[in-house]
Amino acid sequence: MIILAPSLLAGDFANLERDIKKVHAHGCQYLHLDIMDGVFVNNISFGLPVIAGIRKVCDIIFDVHLMIINPSRYIREFAEAGADIINFHVEACGSDTEILETINLIKKYNKKCAMTVKPGTPAEILAPYLGILDMVLVMSVEPGFGGQKFIESSLDKIKYLADIKRANNYNFDIEIDGGVNLENIARIKAAGANIIVAGSSIFGAPDIKSAINNLII
Ligand code: DX5
Ligand code: ZN
Repeated sequence: MIILAPSLLAGDFANLERDIKKVHAHGCQYLHLDIMDGVFVNNISFGLPVIAGIRKVCDIIFDVHLMIINPSRYIREFAEAGADIINFHVEACGSDTEILETINLIKKYNKKCAMTVKPGTPAEILAPYLGILDMVLVMSVEPGFGGQKFIESSLDKIKYLADIKRANNYNFDIEIDGGVNLENIARIKAAGANIIVAGSSIFGAPDIKSAINNLII
């Protein structure tokens, strides 16, 4: 089953509750929340108080994408603020030990654990962890900003991960994030992604309901 995860980064920050309720009502089960620290990426988005605030007004699944260095420092805080899924970047960790520590912390707080790779990082780096992850996130744009162009080679990463998943009977979800639109969605699904993040193509659309329906089909 395909799940659509609208990225709130493209929402109206003066009307977050309205936007979240709208995408939830139109069938989106996940909400993708992009957390940027201005160090791991060249941008700052929003943080813990915003997550805690919107948690009070909705029960959509929060898919938190951490674009922060040394993510293990903040797992407890994001878990307590209301994250359901915590995505961290392999490039944000200094060592394999730190990667395992971060995975263990996310599991300790009973959250779903996802590891993420930037476009320039080979998907093979995820291989040792695939048996213990709930989800992998393939970035199809450089993290930091919405509205960028989809990088086609991301499809090969998805296929590689889908092959390993099939061969080993693993359970992890495969998520894609960045530049998803009506032109490329069919190729993305065919490659094997089942969680689809979309920011501008949902919140930037003239009619959010039909944008969601067209992407889900
Ligand atoms: C980029 C973020 C994405 C972004 C996607 O760093 O991780 O989630 O919001 O936005 P679009 O769909 O507009 O590329
Ligand atoms: Zn994201």
